[in-house]
Amino acid sequence: MSDTSITSKEFIEKQYKPINEELERLRMINEEDNIPLILRETEGLLSVLLDICKPTRILEIGTAYGYSSVFFATKCPKAFITTIERNPKMAEKALSNFKEYGVSDRIKLIEGDASDILKDMEVSEPFDFIFIDAGKTHYKEYFEEAEKLSAPGAVTVCDNILIHGWIYDRKKPGAKRHRTSVKYMNSFLDYLKNREDLTVSVSESGDGLAIIKLNDK
Ligand SMILES: C[S@@+](CC[C@H](N)C(=O)[O-])C[C@H]1O[C@@H](n2cnc3c(N)ncnc32)[C@H](O)[C@@H]1O
Repeated sequence: MSDTSITSKEFIEKQYKPINEELERLRMINEEDNIPLILRETEGLLSVLLDICKPTRILEIGTAYGYSSVFFATKCPKAFITTIERNPKMAEKALSNFKEYGVSDRIKLIEGDASDILKDMEVSEPFDFIFIDAGKTHYKEYFEEAEKLSAPGAVTVCDNILIHGWIYDRKKPGAKRHRTSVKYMNSFLDYLKNREDLTVSVSESGDGLAIIKLNDK
């Protein structure tokens, strides 16, 4: 047995198994280009949730290169995904990835600011799974707008809830610089806690996840 110690995060990362070679390749491209994407640990948890929920209408806020969109399309072959990205260069790259990975017929990318897009969005069928992974100061707004477009019992997963640990450790390097994100994320968590009609779990998985279930009604 090796006596080299590793962190719990490193140990958990080692348990990760990509769902196929194509996604593994796309993850490596993101990492080489320094593009933010869901952590391996987050992907594992999302995988299980998607298997349980079996969503057919997924809304994603924050596309980047489209890794998580391709992951959703691969995990849920019957699902249609709507994803929103405001950076035109990211959107262009994501569209080319959707084509290359053969999933463009099931992913609609809307380019623009999610705050504006969600307010005007109309859907023929409500979303049953929502993934929020964009501007950290707007999670409450994204959540409330997405809720209006969601089916009873829909599940929302919000990524980066702990924002590198700054949310609970104000002395950590970088925390001061990101105090606005920390303030907004804290008030989003307070808001979730005060909503009696939601079932919420805040987990340390990845960079912190909030998993929220709307009432079944
Ligand atoms: C963490 S990355 C998304 C990663 C992606 N979900 C994945 O795992 O492959 C966040 C993305 O959200 C986009 N973004 C940030 N604020 C946004 C906004 N208000 N509206 C739309 N997109 C936004 C950024 O341009 C960035 O590409």
